[in-house]
Amino acid sequence: METVTLDEAAKYLGVAPALIRSWEKKKLIQSKKDHNNTRFFDLELLKRIYDNSQGKSQEVGFKILQNTEKTEFTTIELFAGCGGMALGFENAGLQNELLIELNKDCVNTLQKNRSHWSVVQEDVAKIDFKSYQGKIDIVSGGFPCQAFSYAGKGKGFEDTRGTLFFEFARCLEEVKPKIAVAENVRGLLSHQKGKTLSIMLASLKDLGYKPAYQVVSAQFLDVPQKRERVVIIAVRKDLDIPSIFPDPKSYTISLKQALTNCPDSIGVNYNDRKKAIMELVPPGGNWRDLPLEIQKKYLKNSFYKGGGRTGFAKRLSWDEPCLTITCSPAQTQTERCHPDKTRPLTVREYARVQTFPDDWKFTGSLTSQYKQIGNAVPVNMAYHLGQCLIAMLEGKWNNQTKQQVIKKQETEIQQLLIPGLAKVF
Ligand SMILES: C[S@@+](CC[C@H](N)C(=O)[O-])C[C@H]1O[C@@H](n2cnc3c(N)ncnc32)[C@H](O)[C@@H]1O
Repeated sequence: METVTLDEAAKYLGVAPALIRSWEKKKLIQSKKDHNNTRFFDLELLKRIYDNSQGKSQEVGFKILQNTEKTEFTTIELFAGCGGMALGFENAGLQNELLIELNKDCVNTLQKNRSHWSVVQEDVAKIDFKSYQGKIDIVSGGFPCQAFSYAGKGKGFEDTRGTLFFEFARCLEEVKPKIAVAENVRGLLSHQKGKTLSIMLASLKDLGYKPAYQVVSAQFLDVPQKRERVVIIAVRKDLDIPSIFPDPKSYTISLKQALTNCPDSIGVNYNDRKKAIMELVPPGGNWRDLPLEIQKKYLKNSFYKGGGRTGFAKRLSWDEPCLTITCSPAQTQTERCHPDKTRPLTVREYARVQTFPDDWKFTGSLTSQYKQIGNAVPVNMAYHLGQCLIAMLEGKWNNQTKQQVIKKQETEIQQLLIPGLAKVF
């Protein structure tokens, strides 16, 4: 990855540094700071955002991606939720052999949409996977992320939810799939200064896998949403297969494209007080667009705190991918108001933003449906991941790609591994 400073980037693209800063503010790009606090940007990503802003990128419509060709490759999906990852894998051509999920509403959703899937409603910790040994190609799991996310308590392994990674690892030990895929929030990278991720990678190595990880950005993978996830792909050591991650596309899909002809559906509404406030915010705007007195009343103590607080009273913009959706569309700090209508996104709009097809039904209460969707891996992102896994299993990579991939993953992992932790598991 070629990185450049803000000034270098501005010069290269022929734009004002302020424009690049505005992209960073909008979370279209994220810089990394070195020890001197100098910000560095990924040049390739900058070029893509620039092309988009100039309308040079291909005009690509919103669609749920699906391969007509199916493969024989099988998966076990732990922490399956409402099926974002599983559906994307199926759309890519993989066979979902077993799905484990504890939550009843999620299980009902999975069964309602795919009666032929084998879905087990149980705590992963109570499942014995030994009978699957040697029969499964891929084990995947997005272990619950609250323990690692910036928004959570940040306790990681101290928090019992954090230990669910070890259930994932136990499943690998019992099943010995060819490939393991773990997905989590971006906050995992910096959690405990990288120690948490380091422990996970070391655990995978001890289990006989070669792990590689990458931050995968959904907005460049046919998903109309700025959502970043850390994806770990680990290949069993006896196999000569490099970990391949999806190549980001040079276009993004706007919220307008995503919500065109979205079917009507249930959704939450604002109370009269909040509605009157949100009426004052234009598309793409936030609390800063409110009169000062209302800003103070609405933000309360947060008004006097620093930082952008850009999620307060946020109205989405039509022209960009949607902001990351959360488990609820009307949280004070992560508001997701419809661009034109003064209400939060509906359940079906939420589903579109996560690239679930319109006929994917969600069960349970309204709150539960929002939560299931907000927790999911975007279906199209999972589709692209699935395509990579199929390419890996079918041996479809050229030697140059392989050498590059291996070199990159070795240096990244060496940088991250903390001496002495390799034997933790
Ligand atoms: C982040 S969501 C996974 C989303 C899913 N990968 C998708 O794409 O839709 C995590 C899920 O793990 C489930 N879960 C939490 N603890 C569990 C456990 N001990 N056993 C099984 N499932 C669990 C939660 O109910 C939640 O649905």
